[in-house]
Amino acid sequence: MAGGRCLDVGTFDGFWAFEMERLGAGEVIALDLEDPTKIDWPYDWRRAGPQVVRSDGRLDGSGFTRAAAALGASASRTSGSVYELDPEIHGGFDVVFCGALLLHLQDPVRALEAIRGVCAGELVLVEHLDPLLELIAPRVPCARVAPEGDQWWRTNSAGLVRLLHRAGFELEWVGRRFLVPHGPGWSNRRSVTDSLAARSPRGRGALHRAFRARARPPADAAELTGALERPPTR
Ligand SMILES: C[S@@+](CC[C@H](N)C(=O)[O-])C[C@H]1O[C@@H](n2cnc3c(N)ncnc32)[C@H](O)[C@@H]1O
Repeated sequence: MAGGRCLDVGTFDGFWAFEMERLGAGEVIALDLEDPTKIDWPYDWRRAGPQVVRSDGRLDGSGFTRAAAALGASASRTSGSVYELDPEIHGGFDVVFCGALLLHLQDPVRALEAIRGVCAGELVLVEHLDPLLELIAPRVPCARVAPEGDQWWRTNSAGLVRLLHRAGFELEWVGRRFLVPHGPGWSNRRSVTDSLAARSPRGRGALHRAFRARARPPADAAELTGALERPPTR
């Protein structure tokens, strides 16, 4: 991190961008949407959703601006979608952080590939995992479709590892499972599956895990020979 060029994808109020700056990043760019029509809305929300978001101001970046002023931080917020990340426009980054975004995207693989396009070093991914899949099928890379209203997919750990590899990353490290407590306004009742999957029977919150992965070069022709019917998985 020290002295590096860093990117926080889906920054919201900038918590992780400011944290990267505190840890010594040389430059931090924080990306999030400003245009609510660019959210990956499900069919039923597509017409009315943007208006709701515009009226509650959650994408206007004011939280980021206030936090940056309070912290005296120099991280800069830029508007755009993860799908639009482009090395010609945004340049390359030594560290990319992406937290709790993939499950809200219709096309998480395309998003990871766009991140790969600007990542010259390491990606730190923190995601909300599906606790049931983590418990019953921990070795099978899989995802649950639309488990909650604003989520498209929720994978297990093995599923995320497979997605990372597909998008051009080599896994370096997997953290312990942990629970993120729900904020004010959410019911904080215990979800037994989240607590069990986090090995924290008394804990409350949503199951999360961190992954670190390094940008890798594509396979060469010799590696692919004879494998086209059976693409490499790891
Ligand atoms: C659940 S919040 C996560 C906030 C923060 N990264 C964290 O870990 O606490 C998801 C964020 O991703 C943003 N987002 C949603 N779709 C996006 C997209 N296509 N491109 C970039 N950001 C997006 C949302 O606006 C929101 O700020």
